[in-house]
This record gives sequence, structure tokens and C-alpha cells, in this order.
Amino acid sequence: MTTASNRPAIHIEHLSKTFGRLKAVDDLSFSVGAGEVFGFVGPNGAGKTTTIRMLAGLMRPDAGKIQTAGSEVDDRRSMAGRIGLVPERSGFYGWMTALEYLAFFGSLYGLEGNELGARCDDLLRTVDLQARRDSVISTFSHGMRQRLSLARALVNRPAVLLMDEPAVGLDPQGQYDFKQLVLKLSREGITILISSHQLHELVEICSRLAVIKKGRLVAEGTLEELRANAGAPEAYRISMAAPCEVLRGAPFAEATRAGTELASTSRFVVDGDVGLANRLVDYLRARQIEVSELAEDKDVEAMFLRLIETAP
Ligand SMILES: Nc1ncnc2c1ncn2[C@@H]1O[C@H](COP(=O)(O)OP(=O)(O)OP(=O)(O)O)[C@@H](O)[C@H]1O
Ligand SMILES: [Mg+2]
Repeated sequence: MTTASNRPAIHIEHLSKTFGRLKAVDDLSFSVGAGEVFGFVGPNGAGKTTTIRMLAGLMRPDAGKIQTAGSEVDDRRSMAGRIGLVPERSGFYGWMTALEYLAFFGSLYGLEGNELGARCDDLLRTVDLQARRDSVISTFSHGMRQRLSLARALVNRPAVLLMDEPAVGLDPQGQYDFKQLVLKLSREGITILISSHQLHELVEICSRLAVIKKGRLVAEGTLEELRANAGAPEAYRISMAAPCEVLRGAPFAEATRAGTELASTSRFVVDGDVGLANRLVDYLRARQIEVSELAEDKDVEAMFLRLIETAP
């Protein structure tokens, strides 16, 4: 087995998959370095799940090469055990308890006795489900199921973890906990690929991202590289101690974007450079309006839409 550390953990080359006449994945190539948290972004139907299923060895590509965790995906025997998958929709045995469920999957990977018990304890603690270990899964909330699905994906101590929209439907606390958990797993050395159709879910935790549309790569790189690629216009956010109505009649008011038609919000965005933003701040201060924030507006969702819309 060759798993040289300089090899990418995931490597896809000219990958294609067609369903009838639909090219779900079309000549897709990208690499994920060992230990990276990599974001895989694209609108609904872009081909994320199809790519992830091929990466996990669940679906055969029509063309192209895939290597995950140091092995060709065709080499299922050496690959199994080194990949964990959190699927888009997990099937559960609702009548099992969380502990029984993990123990079942652990035993499929050859764990038994004390080792199996310790592994299950460890995983339940990792995903914060120890208090519900003996509850049957059919009584679990969506967020609890998501966490159990992640625990299952980690049973075999994978080197590469593939997660297909894992944060969908999580509440703010759940999203925060999820991000912390991803970062913790990353620090332990696991390479992680996370798909989403929402860029803002990923930007805080991913070192690099790939954006796809209609199965094709639109852009790849760090957030800054994507931003440069998108040609995202400069914009600044200003918060002040007055409703946006005070902007009526202000110079450059046409460059401002307020939340709701200059109504009761006290926060707005200026489309333009820092000089323009500063002139607006001066204008407000000259009218004794306190400005509590002037910051670059990094609207990742708008940047993402721009990348998607301008791609063929
Ligand atoms: N088994 C299948 N048979 C036929 N078409 C399929 C199949 N699986 C996926 N497709 C089609 O391939 C395209 C890509 O689907 P895929 O599920 O990979 O997208 P996605 O990026 O995961 O989207 P979403 O964000 O909605 O989950 C879609 O047009 C979908 O209808
Ligand atoms: Mg999908």
C-alpha cells in the first residue's frame, strides 16, 4: 500500500457521469490535500451528491479517475475502512438505540468486546449524544440524527471524511457545534470534504473550496482566490445610531443599499471604495450621527451567485 504523505487525500481527474442524456458530472477535476477541510459548493442539481457517491465508491463513473485516501476507488478492499461518509439522507434503523446502531456498524468493521464498547462511548461523546445513548432513534430530532450519522461515519477511524450537506436543518447552536466538531476532527488529521449549496456555511471552516455548476468546475481555491475570480465589487457596511431614513438626500445616497428601502434599519451597505464609505461616515458624523461600524462587506452569498451566474 502506498500512501505517501505528499499525495493528495482526494484526487479527481476528468470525472464524468451521465444519467440518460443528462451530464450530472462533466469532466470534473480537483484535488484535496491531506488534512484539508475542503468545501464543495454548487446550486441544487450541480452534481455534488453524484460526485460524493463516486468518491465513496457507491457509484461507478463513466469516465475519469478518482483516488481517495491513497487508493484508486476501484480498489474497494483497501479503500474501505479509510473513508467515512455522511450521506445527504441517512437511513436509520429507527427501532435501534443510538448505542446499538453504532455497535452494529462497529462490528461490521470488525470491532468487538471492550474495544467496540470504548469506541462507541468515544463516538457518542464526540457527537454529544451520550445522554441519549439508550433512546431509540425514531425518537431523535433531525439534529440528533445528523450527529448520529456523523458518529457512524467515524466508526472506522477514516482518513477521509465525506459529508454531503451535513448542516442542513441544524439550528444556530447546532451549526456552531457542527463547525467546532469539524475543526476538531481536522486537528486530529482527518481530511474533510463538505458539500453545501450555501457558501456561508463553509467559509469559516474550509481552507479551500471548489464551486461547481451543471457538473463542471466553475472555480477553485481559497476564499480570497474565489473572490478575485468572481471580480466581486468592493462594498462597505456602515452601522449608525439612526434609522436609514437619514440617508435621504445625502450625497452618494444612490450608492447605498439599505435593508428595507431606507426604513427603520440602521445598517446599510455602500457600493464603492473605502473613500466613498469614509465620505458618507464624515457626512453622518457632521450631523451628530454616531457611526458604530465601518467594515468591508464580504457578502459571500452574493459572490457565490456571481460566480454561478457568470459561468456558462
Ligand atoms: N440516479 C439518478 N438518476 C437520474 N438522474 C440523477 C440521478 N442522480 C442524480 N441525478 C441528476 O443528476 C443531477 C445532479 O444531481 P446531484 O444529486 O448530484 O446534485 P446536487 O448538487 O447534490 O444537488 P442538491 O444540492 O439538490 O443536493 C441532477 O439533475 C439530478 O436530477
Ligand atoms: Mg445533493
